[in-house]
Amino acid sequence: MVAVPGGDAQQGLRLVTQYQCGACHSIPGVQGAAGELAPALDHIGRLSYIAGGIPNQPANMVQWLRTPHAVKPGTEMPPMGLTEQEARHMAAFLYTLR
Ligand code: HEC
Repeated sequence: MVAVPGGDAQQGLRLVTQYQCGACHSIPGVQGAAGELAPALDHIGRLSYIAGGIPNQPANMVQWLRTPHAVKPGTEMPPMGLTEQEARHMAAFLYTLR
């Protein structure tokens, strides 16, 4: 399991639900998260790369969640207005999905 400093997976699950990431993504364990516009996040915790080429490490994941365009110009993933803390919690949750 990848540890995210300052991240709490339970809080992350709550935030992923609250921010409706499931409108675009299918996410195990998240009520109603069955979106098909974006990659399913079923095994995001054990992928080597995210978004087609970014090494899947906590710092990159947190930055991706906050500012996708800064990580990958032109991506269709929108910025969701997350705080650093919220992104850390979400990353901790995402790393439980293996
Ligand atoms: C409007 C649709 C949309 C919403 C809402 C959205 N995403 Fe995404 N997301 C995408 C798209 C499209 C991609 C693929 C981006 C790419 O590869 O350029 C993506 C990629 C990702 C990836 C990388 C997946 C992979 O397999 O590489 C993660 C992780 C992710 N999103 C998490 C989230 C989280 C957490 C939220 C809620 C805060 C969220 N997304 C909200 C559209 C969305």
